[in-house]
Amino acid sequence: MKTMKIIPRKSLQGRLRVPGDKSISHRAAMIAALARGRSLLSNFSTSADCASTLDCLRALGVSVERDGTTVVIEGRGGDLSAPSSALDCGNSGTTMRLLAGILAGQTFSATLTGDESLSRRPMRRIIEPLELMGAKLSSQEGHAPLTVNGQRPLRAIDYEPPVASAQVKSCVLLAGLQAAGCTRIRERVHTRDHTERMLRWFGVPVEEREEGGVRLIALHGPKRFSARDISIPGDISSATFFLAAATLLPGSELVIEEVGLNRTRASVIGFLQKLGADIQIERARVECNEEIGDLRVRGVERLKPTANGANIISGALAAELIDELPALAVVGTRVAGGLEIRDAAELRVKESDRIRTTVENLRAMGAEVEERPDGLRVAGPARLRAAHLESYGDHRIAMAFAVAALTADDASELSGAASVAVSFPEFFDLLEAVSE
Ligand code: S3P
Repeated sequence: MKTMKIIPRKSLQGRLRVPGDKSISHRAAMIAALARGRSLLSNFSTSADCASTLDCLRALGVSVERDGTTVVIEGRGGDLSAPSSALDCGNSGTTMRLLAGILAGQTFSATLTGDESLSRRPMRRIIEPLELMGAKLSSQEGHAPLTVNGQRPLRAIDYEPPVASAQVKSCVLLAGLQAAGCTRIRERVHTRDHTERMLRWFGVPVEEREEGGVRLIALHGPKRFSARDISIPGDISSATFFLAAATLLPGSELVIEEVGLNRTRASVIGFLQKLGADIQIERARVECNEEIGDLRVRGVERLKPTANGANIISGALAAELIDELPALAVVGTRVAGGLEIRDAAELRVKESDRIRTTVENLRAMGAEVEERPDGLRVAGPARLRAAHLESYGDHRIAMAFAVAALTADDASELSGAASVAVSFPEFFDLLEAVSE
Protein backbone atom coordinates (compact mmCIF):
# COMPACT_ATOMS: atom_id res chain seq x y z
CA MET A 1 0.00 0.00 0.00
CA LYS A 2 1.22 3.47 -0.85
CA THR A 3 2.44 5.66 1.98
CA MET A 4 1.76 9.38 2.11
CA LYS A 5 3.75 11.98 4.01
CA ILE A 6 1.63 14.48 5.92
CA ILE A 7 3.22 17.70 7.09
CA PRO A 8 1.73 19.67 10.01
CA ARG A 9 -0.03 22.89 8.97
CA LYS A 10 -0.66 26.25 10.62
CA SER A 11 -4.26 26.76 9.55
CA LEU A 12 -6.95 26.07 6.94
CA GLN A 13 -8.29 29.04 4.97
CA GLY A 14 -10.83 29.60 2.20
CA ARG A 15 -13.94 27.98 0.83
CA LEU A 16 -14.61 24.48 -0.41
CA ARG A 17 -17.33 22.03 -1.34
CA VAL A 18 -17.30 18.40 -0.36
CA PRO A 19 -18.77 15.72 -2.67
CA GLY A 20 -22.46 14.91 -2.72
CA ASP A 21 -23.75 12.92 0.24
CA LYS A 22 -22.94 9.23 -0.09
CA SER A 23 -26.00 7.92 1.78
CA ILE A 24 -28.35 10.14 -0.24
CA SER A 25 -26.64 9.31 -3.56
CA HIS A 26 -27.08 5.54 -3.05
CA ARG A 27 -30.75 6.03 -2.26
CA ALA A 28 -31.35 8.46 -5.11
CA ALA A 29 -29.88 6.01 -7.62
CA MET A 30 -31.73 2.97 -6.30
CA ILE A 31 -35.10 4.67 -5.93
CA ALA A 32 -34.76 6.35 -9.36
CA ALA A 33 -34.02 2.88 -10.80
CA LEU A 34 -37.35 1.65 -9.40
CA ALA A 35 -39.32 4.68 -10.61
CA ARG A 36 -41.14 4.97 -13.95
CA GLY A 37 -39.21 7.31 -16.28
CA ARG A 38 -36.05 9.39 -16.33
CA SER A 39 -34.53 11.07 -13.25
CA LEU A 40 -31.59 13.45 -13.32
CA LEU A 41 -29.45 13.36 -10.19
CA SER A 42 -27.12 16.32 -9.67
CA ASN A 43 -24.10 16.55 -7.36
CA PHE A 44 -24.00 12.75 -7.21
CA SER A 45 -21.28 11.44 -4.87
CA THR A 46 -17.87 10.88 -6.47
CA SER A 47 -17.21 8.00 -4.05
CA ALA A 48 -16.16 4.53 -5.16
CA ASP A 49 -19.05 3.22 -3.00
CA CYS A 50 -21.71 5.04 -5.02
CA ALA A 51 -20.00 3.98 -8.27
CA SER A 52 -20.49 0.39 -7.04
CA THR A 53 -24.21 1.07 -6.68
CA LEU A 54 -24.42 2.46 -10.24
CA ASP A 55 -22.53 -0.54 -11.63
CA CYS A 56 -24.86 -2.97 -9.85
CA LEU A 57 -27.91 -1.11 -11.20
CA ARG A 58 -26.49 -1.30 -14.75
CA ALA A 59 -25.99 -5.05 -14.28
CA LEU A 60 -29.69 -5.22 -13.35
CA GLY A 61 -30.67 -3.72 -16.69
CA VAL A 62 -31.03 -0.08 -15.63
CA SER A 63 -29.77 2.55 -18.06
CA VAL A 64 -27.37 4.80 -16.14
CA GLU A 65 -25.53 7.66 -17.85
CA ARG A 66 -22.93 9.56 -15.92
CA ASP A 67 -21.18 12.81 -16.74
CA GLY A 68 -19.07 13.77 -13.73
CA THR A 69 -21.46 14.40 -10.88
CA THR A 70 -24.58 14.34 -13.06
CA VAL A 71 -26.27 10.97 -13.38
CA VAL A 72 -29.29 10.20 -15.54
CA ILE A 73 -31.24 7.09 -14.65
CA GLU A 74 -33.94 5.51 -16.76
CA GLY A 75 -36.14 3.83 -14.17
CA ARG A 76 -37.60 0.38 -14.83
CA GLY A 77 -40.87 0.91 -12.97
CA GLY A 78 -40.07 -1.74 -10.38
CA ASP A 79 -39.02 -4.62 -12.67
CA LEU A 80 -35.29 -5.20 -12.94
CA SER A 81 -33.57 -7.85 -15.10
CA ALA A 82 -31.66 -10.87 -13.84
CA PRO A 83 -27.91 -10.07 -13.85
CA SER A 84 -25.63 -12.31 -15.90
CA SER A 85 -23.05 -12.54 -13.10
CA ALA A 86 -22.59 -11.68 -9.41
CA LEU A 87 -23.19 -8.06 -8.38
CA ASP A 88 -19.96 -6.60 -6.98
CA CYS A 89 -20.67 -4.18 -4.12
CA GLY A 90 -16.96 -3.44 -3.59
CA ASN A 91 -16.41 -1.95 -0.12
CA SER A 92 -19.97 -0.65 0.19
CA GLY A 93 -22.22 -1.98 2.95
CA THR A 94 -25.00 0.39 1.91
CA THR A 95 -24.97 -1.01 -1.64
CA MET A 96 -25.21 -4.59 -0.40
CA ARG A 97 -27.81 -4.10 2.31
CA LEU A 98 -30.15 -1.75 0.42
CA LEU A 99 -29.91 -3.61 -2.87
CA ALA A 100 -30.78 -6.86 -1.06
CA GLY A 101 -34.10 -5.21 -0.09
CA ILE A 102 -34.80 -4.39 -3.73
CA LEU A 103 -33.74 -7.83 -4.99
CA ALA A 104 -35.98 -9.53 -2.40
CA GLY A 105 -39.05 -8.42 -4.38
CA GLN A 106 -37.80 -9.31 -7.86
CA THR A 107 -38.70 -12.42 -9.87
CA PHE A 108 -35.14 -13.80 -10.14
CA SER A 109 -32.21 -14.66 -7.94
CA ALA A 110 -28.99 -12.65 -7.76
CA THR A 111 -25.74 -12.88 -5.80
CA LEU A 112 -24.13 -9.91 -4.06
CA THR A 113 -20.38 -10.02 -3.44
CA GLY A 114 -17.97 -7.59 -1.82
CA ASP A 115 -14.31 -7.04 -1.07
CA GLU A 116 -12.54 -8.63 1.86
CA SER A 117 -13.72 -5.98 4.34
CA LEU A 118 -17.36 -6.12 3.21
CA SER A 119 -17.26 -9.93 3.27
CA ARG A 120 -16.44 -9.76 6.99
CA ARG A 121 -19.42 -7.53 7.83
CA PRO A 122 -22.63 -8.91 9.36
CA MET A 123 -25.54 -9.58 6.99
CA ARG A 124 -27.91 -11.56 9.24
CA ARG A 125 -29.44 -8.23 10.23
CA ILE A 126 -30.98 -8.00 6.75
CA ILE A 127 -31.37 -11.72 6.03
CA GLU A 128 -33.76 -12.11 8.97
CA PRO A 129 -36.34 -9.46 8.01
CA LEU A 130 -36.17 -10.27 4.29
CA GLU A 131 -36.87 -13.95 5.04
CA LEU A 132 -39.80 -12.91 7.25
CA MET A 133 -41.09 -11.08 4.18
CA GLY A 134 -40.92 -14.28 2.12
CA ALA A 135 -37.62 -13.96 0.22
CA LYS A 136 -35.06 -16.77 0.43
CA LEU A 137 -31.46 -15.81 1.11
CA SER A 138 -28.29 -17.83 1.39
CA SER A 139 -24.98 -16.58 2.76
CA GLN A 140 -21.67 -17.76 4.18
CA GLU A 141 -22.77 -18.00 7.81
CA GLY A 142 -24.27 -14.55 7.75
CA HIS A 143 -21.65 -13.01 5.46
CA ALA A 144 -21.35 -12.25 1.74
CA PRO A 145 -21.51 -13.67 -0.86
CA LEU A 146 -25.23 -13.28 -0.37
CA THR A 147 -27.73 -14.84 -2.79
CA VAL A 148 -31.20 -13.33 -2.80
CA ASN A 149 -34.03 -15.38 -4.30
CA GLY A 150 -36.75 -12.84 -4.94
CA GLN A 151 -40.40 -13.44 -4.13
CA ARG A 152 -43.34 -11.49 -5.54
CA PRO A 153 -45.32 -10.19 -3.84
CA LEU A 154 -43.45 -10.08 -0.56
CA ARG A 155 -45.32 -10.11 2.76
CA ALA A 156 -45.46 -6.84 4.68
CA ILE A 157 -43.95 -7.06 8.17
CA ASP A 158 -43.93 -5.08 11.38
CA TYR A 159 -40.28 -5.12 12.42
CA GLU A 160 -38.03 -3.77 15.12
CA PRO A 161 -34.39 -4.13 14.02
CA PRO A 162 -32.22 -5.53 16.84
CA VAL A 163 -29.50 -2.96 16.02
CA ALA A 164 -29.92 0.76 15.36
CA SER A 165 -29.22 0.76 11.63
CA ALA A 166 -30.40 3.00 8.81
CA GLN A 167 -29.24 0.35 6.37
CA VAL A 168 -31.49 -2.31 7.89
CA LYS A 169 -34.43 0.12 8.06
CA SER A 170 -33.88 1.16 4.44
CA CYS A 171 -33.52 -2.43 3.26
CA VAL A 172 -36.90 -3.30 4.79
CA LEU A 173 -38.58 -0.15 3.45
CA LEU A 174 -37.30 -0.85 -0.08
CA ALA A 175 -38.58 -4.42 0.19
CA GLY A 176 -41.82 -2.97 1.60
CA LEU A 177 -42.35 -1.05 -1.66
CA GLN A 178 -42.77 -4.48 -3.22
CA ALA A 179 -44.78 -6.10 -0.41
CA ALA A 180 -48.55 -6.46 -0.13
CA GLY A 181 -49.81 -4.40 2.83
CA CYS A 182 -48.33 -2.10 5.43
CA THR A 183 -44.63 -2.55 6.18
CA ARG A 184 -43.71 -1.00 9.50
CA ILE A 185 -40.33 -0.38 11.17
CA ARG A 186 -39.98 0.39 14.87
CA GLU A 187 -36.98 2.44 15.87
CA ARG A 188 -35.89 3.16 19.44
CA VAL A 189 -32.98 5.21 18.16
CA HIS A 190 -33.81 7.49 15.26
CA THR A 191 -31.30 6.61 12.52
CA ARG A 192 -30.66 8.69 9.39
CA ASP A 193 -33.96 9.17 7.55
CA HIS A 194 -32.82 9.78 3.96
CA THR A 195 -34.79 6.81 2.59
CA GLU A 196 -38.03 8.11 4.08
CA ARG A 197 -37.40 11.61 2.71
CA MET A 198 -36.34 10.36 -0.69
CA LEU A 199 -39.40 8.12 -1.02
CA ARG A 200 -41.64 11.09 -0.19
CA TRP A 201 -39.76 13.18 -2.77
CA PHE A 202 -40.76 10.50 -5.30
CA GLY A 203 -44.38 10.78 -4.16
CA VAL A 204 -44.52 7.62 -2.01
CA PRO A 205 -46.36 8.32 1.26
CA VAL A 206 -44.25 7.27 4.26
CA GLU A 207 -45.97 7.71 7.61
CA GLU A 208 -44.06 8.49 10.78
CA ARG A 209 -45.23 8.79 14.37
CA GLU A 210 -43.99 8.33 17.93
CA GLU A 211 -45.55 5.75 20.23
CA GLY A 212 -44.18 5.32 23.75
CA GLY A 213 -40.67 6.42 22.83
CA VAL A 214 -40.62 4.27 19.69
CA ARG A 215 -40.71 5.82 16.22
CA LEU A 216 -43.02 3.99 13.79
CA ILE A 217 -42.23 4.33 10.09
CA ALA A 218 -44.74 2.79 7.70
CA LEU A 219 -45.47 2.50 4.00
CA HIS A 220 -48.15 0.67 2.03
CA GLY A 221 -47.20 -1.56 -0.85
CA PRO A 222 -46.93 -2.66 -3.50
CA LYS A 223 -46.14 0.82 -4.77
CA ARG A 224 -45.26 2.10 -8.21
CA PHE A 225 -44.11 5.71 -8.64
CA SER A 226 -42.75 8.15 -11.20
CA ALA A 227 -39.26 9.57 -11.81
CA ARG A 228 -38.17 12.91 -10.37
CA ASP A 229 -34.99 15.01 -10.55
CA ILE A 230 -32.90 15.36 -7.40
CA SER A 231 -30.13 17.65 -6.28
CA ILE A 232 -27.89 16.09 -3.60
CA PRO A 233 -26.35 18.13 -0.76
CA GLY A 234 -22.68 17.92 0.27
CA ASP A 235 -21.78 15.05 2.60
CA ILE A 236 -21.60 16.19 6.24
CA SER A 237 -19.62 13.08 7.16
CA SER A 238 -16.93 14.19 4.68
CA ALA A 239 -17.20 17.81 5.86
CA THR A 240 -16.53 16.59 9.41
CA PHE A 241 -12.82 16.05 8.66
CA PHE A 242 -12.51 19.70 7.64
CA LEU A 243 -14.56 20.87 10.64
CA ALA A 244 -12.21 18.91 12.90
CA ALA A 245 -8.99 20.08 11.23
CA ALA A 246 -10.02 23.76 11.11
CA THR A 247 -11.17 23.64 14.75
CA LEU A 248 -7.82 22.18 15.87
CA LEU A 249 -5.68 24.67 13.91
CA PRO A 250 -6.05 28.11 15.58
CA GLY A 251 -6.28 30.96 13.07
CA SER A 252 -8.24 28.82 10.59
CA GLU A 253 -11.31 30.21 8.87
CA LEU A 254 -13.02 27.89 6.43
CA VAL A 255 -16.40 27.89 4.74
CA ILE A 256 -17.77 24.53 3.60
CA GLU A 257 -20.55 25.23 1.14
CA GLU A 258 -23.85 23.45 0.57
CA VAL A 259 -23.55 20.75 3.20
CA GLY A 260 -26.50 18.50 4.09
CA LEU A 261 -27.81 19.44 7.55
CA ASN A 262 -30.48 16.77 8.02
CA ARG A 263 -31.07 16.53 11.79
CA THR A 264 -30.34 12.79 11.84
CA ARG A 265 -26.87 13.52 10.42
CA ALA A 266 -25.81 16.95 11.69
CA SER A 267 -25.27 16.22 15.40
CA VAL A 268 -21.54 16.68 14.86
CA ILE A 269 -22.06 20.44 14.65
CA GLY A 270 -23.81 20.77 18.02
CA PHE A 271 -21.42 18.30 19.61
CA LEU A 272 -18.31 20.21 18.48
CA GLN A 273 -19.94 23.48 19.58
CA LYS A 274 -20.44 22.00 23.06
CA LEU A 275 -16.72 21.28 23.18
CA GLY A 276 -16.07 24.95 22.45
CA ALA A 277 -15.70 24.83 18.64
CA ASP A 278 -16.64 27.94 16.63
CA ILE A 279 -19.02 26.76 13.88
CA GLN A 280 -21.79 28.81 12.30
CA ILE A 281 -24.51 27.76 9.91
CA GLU A 282 -25.17 30.20 7.05
CA ARG A 283 -27.72 30.27 4.20
CA ALA A 284 -29.74 27.39 5.70
CA ARG A 285 -32.55 26.20 3.43
CA VAL A 286 -34.38 23.05 2.27
CA GLU A 287 -33.75 21.42 -1.10
CA CYS A 288 -35.38 18.21 -2.31
CA ASN A 289 -36.68 17.44 1.21
CA GLU A 290 -33.23 17.77 2.80
CA GLU A 291 -31.87 20.68 4.88
CA ILE A 292 -28.73 22.26 3.45
CA GLY A 293 -26.49 25.21 4.33
CA ASP A 294 -22.93 26.56 4.51
CA LEU A 295 -20.72 25.92 7.53
CA ARG A 296 -18.25 28.57 8.68
CA VAL A 297 -15.65 27.15 11.07
CA ARG A 298 -12.89 29.05 12.84
CA GLY A 299 -9.97 27.53 14.71
CA VAL A 300 -9.89 27.85 18.49
CA GLU A 301 -6.98 28.04 20.94
CA ARG A 302 -8.48 25.50 23.30
CA LEU A 303 -11.41 23.14 23.59
CA LYS A 304 -13.22 22.90 26.88
CA PRO A 305 -16.64 21.26 27.40
CA THR A 306 -19.29 23.92 27.94
CA ALA A 307 -21.27 21.70 30.35
CA ASN A 308 -20.79 18.63 32.50
CA GLY A 309 -20.80 15.50 30.35
CA ALA A 310 -20.49 17.44 27.07
CA ASN A 311 -17.40 15.34 26.29
CA ILE A 312 -19.25 12.02 26.56
CA ILE A 313 -20.85 10.42 23.50
CA SER A 314 -23.34 7.70 24.42
CA GLY A 315 -26.80 6.30 23.64
CA ALA A 316 -28.68 7.82 20.70
CA LEU A 317 -25.91 10.36 20.14
CA ALA A 318 -23.40 7.54 19.53
CA ALA A 319 -25.69 6.17 16.78
CA GLU A 320 -26.18 9.62 15.22
CA LEU A 321 -22.42 10.28 15.21
CA ILE A 322 -21.43 6.76 14.18
CA ASP A 323 -19.46 7.76 11.04
CA GLU A 324 -17.92 10.78 12.78
CA LEU A 325 -16.50 8.95 15.82
CA PRO A 326 -12.92 8.35 14.54
CA ALA A 327 -12.54 12.08 13.73
CA LEU A 328 -14.12 13.04 17.06
CA ALA A 329 -11.73 10.74 18.94
CA VAL A 330 -8.87 12.69 17.32
CA VAL A 331 -10.48 15.99 18.39
CA GLY A 332 -10.84 14.48 21.88
CA THR A 333 -7.06 14.48 22.37
CA ARG A 334 -7.23 18.28 22.45
CA VAL A 335 -10.24 18.63 24.76
CA ALA A 336 -9.71 19.60 28.39
CA GLY A 337 -10.73 16.43 30.25
CA GLY A 338 -10.50 14.30 27.09
CA LEU A 339 -13.40 12.50 25.42
CA GLU A 340 -15.33 9.32 26.07
CA ILE A 341 -17.28 7.21 23.57
CA ARG A 342 -19.78 4.61 24.86
CA ASP A 343 -22.54 2.47 23.29
CA ALA A 344 -20.69 2.34 19.98
CA ALA A 345 -19.98 -1.40 19.61
CA GLU A 346 -21.26 -1.06 16.00
CA LEU A 347 -17.93 0.63 15.24
CA ARG A 348 -16.34 -2.80 15.47
CA VAL A 349 -18.21 -4.01 12.36
CA LYS A 350 -17.63 -1.03 10.06
CA GLU A 351 -15.12 -1.01 7.16
CA SER A 352 -12.53 -1.81 9.85
CA ASP A 353 -12.91 -2.42 13.58
CA ARG A 354 -12.92 1.33 14.15
CA ILE A 355 -12.47 1.12 17.90
CA ARG A 356 -9.29 -0.89 17.44
CA THR A 357 -7.95 1.04 14.46
CA THR A 358 -8.62 4.41 16.11
CA VAL A 359 -6.98 3.30 19.36
CA GLU A 360 -3.91 1.88 17.54
CA ASN A 361 -3.31 5.11 15.62
CA LEU A 362 -3.94 7.35 18.63
CA ARG A 363 -1.45 5.31 20.67
CA ALA A 364 1.11 5.54 17.87
CA MET A 365 0.79 9.33 18.20
CA GLY A 366 1.44 9.17 21.93
CA ALA A 367 -2.15 9.69 23.10
CA GLU A 368 -3.32 8.05 26.29
CA VAL A 369 -6.30 5.88 25.28
CA GLU A 370 -8.36 3.23 26.98
CA GLU A 371 -10.02 0.73 24.64
CA ARG A 372 -13.43 -0.58 25.74
CA PRO A 373 -15.72 -3.20 24.19
CA ASP A 374 -18.19 -0.50 23.10
CA GLY A 375 -15.99 2.56 22.76
CA LEU A 376 -12.93 4.29 24.11
CA ARG A 377 -11.71 7.01 26.39
CA VAL A 378 -8.98 9.38 25.29
CA ALA A 379 -7.16 11.73 27.67
CA GLY A 380 -6.73 15.42 26.86
CA PRO A 381 -5.54 17.98 26.25
CA ALA A 382 -2.37 16.60 24.73
CA ARG A 383 -0.25 17.37 21.68
CA LEU A 384 -0.05 14.48 19.23
CA ARG A 385 3.36 13.25 18.11
CA ALA A 386 4.29 12.49 14.51
CA ALA A 387 3.98 8.78 13.79
CA HIS A 388 3.65 6.07 11.21
CA LEU A 389 -0.13 5.79 10.78
CA GLU A 390 -2.22 3.04 9.17
CA SER A 391 -5.54 3.39 7.35
CA TYR A 392 -6.23 -0.35 7.72
CA GLY A 393 -7.91 0.06 4.32
CA ASP A 394 -10.63 2.17 5.94
CA HIS A 395 -11.42 5.55 4.34
CA ARG A 396 -12.62 7.25 7.51
CA ILE A 397 -9.60 6.06 9.51
CA ALA A 398 -7.33 7.43 6.76
CA MET A 399 -9.03 10.86 6.86
CA ALA A 400 -9.31 11.05 10.66
CA PHE A 401 -5.56 10.41 11.00
CA ALA A 402 -4.64 12.72 8.14
CA VAL A 403 -6.35 15.39 10.28
CA ALA A 404 -4.45 14.21 13.36
CA ALA A 405 -1.18 14.35 11.42
CA LEU A 406 -1.85 17.98 10.38
CA THR A 407 -1.85 18.93 14.05
CA ALA A 408 1.18 16.83 15.10
CA ASP A 409 4.65 18.07 16.09
CA ASP A 410 6.37 16.83 12.92
CA ALA A 411 5.72 15.04 9.61
CA SER A 412 3.82 11.74 9.81
CA GLU A 413 3.40 8.91 7.34
CA LEU A 414 0.05 7.40 6.48
CA SER A 415 -0.08 4.06 4.71
CA GLY A 416 -3.10 3.06 2.68
CA ALA A 417 -4.07 6.70 2.15
CA ALA A 418 -5.66 5.81 -1.21
CA SER A 419 -8.58 4.25 0.65
CA VAL A 420 -10.09 7.77 0.97
CA ALA A 421 -11.52 7.17 -2.54
CA VAL A 422 -14.16 4.91 -0.99
CA SER A 423 -16.07 8.03 0.12
CA PHE A 424 -14.02 11.12 -0.75
CA PRO A 425 -11.52 10.83 -3.64
CA GLU A 426 -10.80 14.59 -3.64
CA PHE A 427 -9.91 14.68 0.08
CA PHE A 428 -6.14 15.24 -0.14
CA ASP A 429 -6.38 17.71 -3.06
CA LEU A 430 -8.97 19.81 -1.23
CA LEU A 431 -6.97 19.66 1.98
CA GLU A 432 -3.87 20.88 0.13
CA ALA A 433 -5.87 23.69 -1.51
CA VAL A 434 -7.03 25.15 1.84
CA SER A 435 -3.91 24.42 3.95
CA GLU A 436 -1.50 27.20 4.92
C1 S3P B 1 -25.48 4.32 6.31
C2 S3P B 1 -25.82 3.93 7.58
C3 S3P B 1 -24.84 3.70 8.64
C4 S3P B 1 -23.50 4.35 8.33
C5 S3P B 1 -23.06 4.08 6.93
C6 S3P B 1 -24.08 4.58 5.92
C7 S3P B 1 -26.53 4.49 5.31
O1 S3P B 1 -24.64 2.30 8.79
O2 S3P B 1 -22.52 3.93 9.23
O3 S3P B 1 -21.82 4.73 6.68
O4 S3P B 1 -26.28 5.07 4.24
O5 S3P B 1 -27.65 4.03 5.58
P1 S3P B 1 -25.61 1.39 9.70
O6 S3P B 1 -26.95 1.38 9.09
O7 S3P B 1 -24.97 0.03 9.68
O8 S3P B 1 -25.58 2.03 11.06
